[in-house]
Amino acid sequence: MKRSTVLATFLVVACLGFVRCYYNSEEKLYPPTSSGCEANNVTYSTTISGILSRNCYSCHGSSVSESFGGGVTLDNYTDVKSHVGHIYGAVSHQSGYPPMPQNGPMLDSCKIKAIKVWIDAGAPNN
Ligand code: HEC
Repeated sequence: MKRSTVLATFLVVACLGFVRCYYNSEEKLYPPTSSGCEANNVTYSTTISGILSRNCYSCHGSSVSESFGGGVTLDNYTDVKSHVGHIYGAVSHQSGYPPMPQNGPMLDSCKIKAIKVWIDAGAPNN
């Protein structure tokens, strides 16, 4: 084999290797649907109460909701269910609802989607 052929082959292989690495982006290696996105297999007991406890109980826990949560308690299924018509509007910052979490960053889209999936399913106590 000629030296120039060897060199050309090497360059082509090196380029392909680079392109393959380039396309091994995080999204391809860790598709958001299979890990991290909580819009799959949504249940009240795990997904929804988990989201609410991390992001909302500081104001909407039953011991603090009178002082910090406008009297809205969200740390048990019965109370969550009674406010269910307002939760999605609040977390998705729709007009006519106070944006939640109050004074905090909006929940990420996966969590908002999970809440919607759960509410659309009839907000079951599952
Ligand atoms: C820093 C305190 C705080 C946090 C954190 C917070 N809230 Fe609130 N929330 C309030 C207060 C205060 C009100 C009453 C204010 C009002 O109605 O304008 C309220 C009202 C609400 C209401 C009633 C809305 C309506 O239409 O009357 C809902 C539903 C709600 N919050 C959901 C949530 C959810 C879900 C989270 C977490 C993702 C959250 N909140 C986080 C303070 C908070």
